[in-house]
Amino acid sequence: MLDLKNPETLPVDAPVQLTQRPRRLRSSAALRESVAETHLRPTDLIVPFFVMPGQGLSEPIAALPGLHRYSPDTFLRQAERALELGVRSLLLFGVLPDTHKDPLGKSAADPEGPVPQALREARKAFGEEVVLYTDVCLCAHTSHGHCGVLKETPRGVRIDNDRSLRQLAAMALMHAEAGADLVAPSDMMDGRVGYLRRALDQAGHTEVGILSYAVKYASAFYGPFRDAAQSAPSFGDRATYQMDVRNAREALKEAALDELEGADLLMVKPALAYLDILARLRPATHLPLVAYNVSGEYAMLKAGAQAGALDEARAVRETLIAIKRAGADLIISYHALEALEKRWI
Ligand code: PBG
Repeated sequence: MLDLKNPETLPVDAPVQLTQRPRRLRSSAALRESVAETHLRPTDLIVPFFVMPGQGLSEPIAALPGLHRYSPDTFLRQAERALELGVRSLLLFGVLPDTHKDPLGKSAADPEGPVPQALREARKAFGEEVVLYTDVCLCAHTSHGHCGVLKETPRGVRIDNDRSLRQLAAMALMHAEAGADLVAPSDMMDGRVGYLRRALDQAGHTEVGILSYAVKYASAFYGPFRDAAQSAPSFGDRATYQMDVRNAREALKEAALDELEGADLLMVKPALAYLDILARLRPATHLPLVAYNVSGEYAMLKAGAQAGALDEARAVRETLIAIKRAGADLIISYHALEALEKRWI
């Protein structure tokens, strides 16, 4: 008699012959390791740094617990720490005081600015051991905090797309002069990759590459970054240049355009809410893909861990693996150094 309250009375034989038992390959840690499909290496990670003018400075960033803004000299010590952990790639952001900002964002191309200074020093100290990326965008340099230059139009104040390109190119050229390996335009102006490529080539910097923030959404997850870089727009938002979160076909279009214009690597940003985009872009290009695990995504895990809601080590590892699994070759991660140091990955 089959008694549903008593499993002992159920028939013992499986109703069908199980030819596949996926659990077999999960039976030991060694076996799981041997069949793992996705691996993280320190060289997969790009570590972002916020560099500000001055000397001997290390200023905690309130919105990004555990992270600091550095002056060029203290940044150098952090770069050394990264290299010791096996990281090769660093991404530099400049942070300027309001006194250095104007409507055109001229400080972006200042050879004595914190980023060119940090580039020169890092290149001198580490030679070819390090891969130096720089963010190219005007938002940390303009008095209004927008990523490009503004103009008056009959429809009101608007971004002057084509005028912005010149300022961006001046910034990229300065970074190339100071020793950047790759410049990473994050402004989302149309045509900037082609414009930068031409400017770099004409100046003789044919070997300096471009990592394009090809697919950059107008995301709520940039909040802590704008605090870190002091780059929040003073009015309006970035919706006329960053992408609408509802669009996926448009992401493929942006990526294809940037590839045609000469991008060497393509980025999807943010990462976690856009893994579908990464997965769709992967078969659509032969270029390496970079995912930016952005400031809000970092802050979210920190807050979750702080609240006791999740185990940070496991959550960080799972997050980074998921981004790679979705199709990223490289991941820009604020967690990189802590995760490597504490052997979370
Ligand atoms: C500059 C820039 C931003 C980020 C990278 N480059 C901010 C923005 O677009 O508002 C965000 C990175 C992050 O949130 O970690 N335009």
